[in-house]
Amino acid sequence: MRPAFSKKNFLVTGASSGIGRAVTQSLLAGGAKVTGIARDLSRAAPADNFRRREMDLGDLKKLPQNLTALQKQCADLDGAALCAGAGRFGSLEEFSHGQISALLDLNLTSQIYLTRALLPALKRNRGRLVFIGSEAALAGAPRGAVYCAAKFGLRGFAQSLRLECAAAGMRVTIINPGMVRTRFFDGLSFEPGQDADNALTAGEVAAAVVHALGMDGGVVDEINLSPLKKVVARKPPPSP
Ligand SMILES: NC(=O)c1ccc[n+]([C@@H]2O[C@H](COP(=O)([O-])OP(=O)(O)OC[C@H]3O[C@@H](n4cnc5c(N)ncnc54)[C@H](OP(=O)(O)O)[C@@H]3O)[C@@H](O)[C@H]2O)c1
Repeated sequence: MRPAFSKKNFLVTGASSGIGRAVTQSLLAGGAKVTGIARDLSRAAPADNFRRREMDLGDLKKLPQNLTALQKQCADLDGAALCAGAGRFGSLEEFSHGQISALLDLNLTSQIYLTRALLPALKRNRGRLVFIGSEAALAGAPRGAVYCAAKFGLRGFAQSLRLECAAAGMRVTIINPGMVRTRFFDGLSFEPGQDADNALTAGEVAAAVVHALGMDGGVVDEINLSPLKKVVARKPPPSP
């Protein structure tokens, strides 16, 4: 079978782990060239068609300069999947101002800056842009106020862009997964339950992303994906 993405150029953020890594692997397997972004791509499997661009998307001071360089490298872009992100959960008073800013900077503002930088190339090529939202973009949750604020904001941004960019033939999608078994939970006090049906796999979410990236004709506006059974398991507190 002929690869679906042969000779197409994609950008994937969060390419070092979880959903972004699974998207990268699928696109490379489909014959695409992928530029991957994360802070540390040393564990990404080497591949001829994979270019590494290490940068901290949460560092908004350096981001404009990094994005100017990225724009030159990605002048001929057919699609982008913005998968980088991280969670922090707790009651609002447990957050310092710095922690609030950091969560919003990475999960919302950096995505807006990055999209602004990629838009000219994506519009020129009638490209595809996929955001990874969350179930936290659909409903508020206790101890999730700041993360939900970022993801609700991202969803409004994606929905608005979807309308704004249609005239240029560009397709914008947001995918909202429930819990996915990835490193996302490494620093958190909870994780999905142990049963296989308590969490999505990164591959399942990546399949939805790749479907949206390959869409012709209509637009995949939004996809909500959930594990069959939602079970949240508390992790034991770290030993002193
Ligand atoms: N896992 C879930 O249950 C779940 C559910 C709904 C939505 N999501 C969303 O899905 C997306 C991907 O998460 P995941 O589950 O795949 O988690 P993951 O395995 O922890 O992957 C997160 C990715 O983001 C990158 N990243 C984190 N901070 C970054 C920074 N400051 N600058 C650049 N890259 C950064 C990480 O790379 P480096 O650490 O190398 O920088 C990594 O590649 C996130 O937007 C998350 O909010 C996850």
